[in-house]
Amino acid sequence: MARPKTSNYNSKSNFRYNPERGRPKIHQRGPEIQAFGTIAKLPIALGEKVCQASVERLNQILADTMTLRDLYKKHHWQNAGPTFYQLHLLFDKHYEEQNDLVDTIAERIQTLGGISIAMAPDVAESTIIPRPPKGREETPVQISRLLQAHEFVLKEAHAMARQAAEVGDDGTNDMLVSDLIRTNEKQVWFLSEHLVDVPLVRAD
Ligand SMILES: [Fe+2]
Repeated sequence: MARPKTSNYNSKSNFRYNPERGRPKIHQRGPEIQAFGTIAKLPIALGEKVCQASVERLNQILADTMTLRDLYKKHHWQNAGPTFYQLHLLFDKHYEEQNDLVDTIAERIQTLGGISIAMAPDVAESTIIPRPPKGREETPVQISRLLQAHEFVLKEAHAMARQAAEVGDDGTNDMLVSDLIRTNEKQVWFLSEHLVDVPLVRAD
């Protein structure tokens, strides 16, 4: 049988073994590659000023959507009362949907060449949604808080969608209308029906 041809990769004589190559290079630090608030423009046929304006507005709605998302998890954990199980599940479903929106908004910001906010202290600095107490609240209070937060988000989303359409940022307009506004409106419906005071067993 013919001997297999020796490849360069197997030949010890051609390559010097370096024990450092296999080790992870940890504790690295370096300068930022893009400063927050700046645009690293991509070829998406939109002007830099248009991208800059959309990124600023989207970061506001991102902060408020992250806050609304986290408000859902708080209430998912802290809910109490006879409707605990159904609301525990509903709040978590809405949490997951808001979490998807967070990713959609953040990735739109990056697509526009901007930098999305990400960390809790930055979110807390920017959000316009009032901070809830750390303690536990009654179910109707939880739902009212969520409805108020939804309305903050919807109000700014409507205004932003119009501005985006006016300057030709169709992708942002579509995302705000098709994803953000429709999801928030539907969640408002599901929440609101829990505050309708109808009898549970015996009709009035
Ligand atoms: Fe859970």
